[in-house]
Amino acid sequence: MSMSKKTSFARIKYRVQQVGRALLPTFTREELQWAASFLSAEEHEVFREMAPADRRHCLDVAHICRSMAEQLAPDQRRLLLTAALLHDMGKRQGAIRLGHRIFFVLLGSRRSRIVPFKRWPLVGRPLHVIARHARLGAAEAKKRNWAPDLVALIRHHHDQSGSMSDENRRLLQMLQRADNLC
Ligand SMILES: [Fe+2]
Ligand SMILES: [Fe+2]
Repeated sequence: MSMSKKTSFARIKYRVQQVGRALLPTFTREELQWAASFLSAEEHEVFREMAPADRRHCLDVAHICRSMAEQLAPDQRRLLLTAALLHDMGKRQGAIRLGHRIFFVLLGSRRSRIVPFKRWPLVGRPLHVIARHARLGAAEAKKRNWAPDLVALIRHHHDQSGSMSDENRRLLQMLQRADNLC
């Protein structure tokens, strides 16, 4: 098997395992209490609106970020953990089912490949939301007048294209590293 085939097989296997873990998410009372006390009331409302699988994922990302953030200044640490808990909030904007998540992975997680499905809203809309969730979440966060640094971390959590300060770039790298582990 060629290297690239091996790599893409490993990626699909990893994603399918990730989806499997998302099937039956569980939460501890402590972590839910922590999220409730850490986030503002409005942020927490958004967090609670997320699908259980996404909430589980965001908590896992936040736990990893927390262990990475020990050296950070308190305001930087707060920003990173808030972004970790909310970075996938854009996924709330579509009725995303497990099948859509698996289908998107099988399409290679590429935006261009969802174009043919646009004409079928029940499939096309959730795929569109999955593909664009970073932008969609950031647009909503901006509309809610959340801090520009938080908006930028949500907007760029799957890319490197944003112009941002060195401090925020460092936080983005931490967020992406944790996101890739979950
Ligand atoms: Fe994401
Ligand atoms: Fe994520």
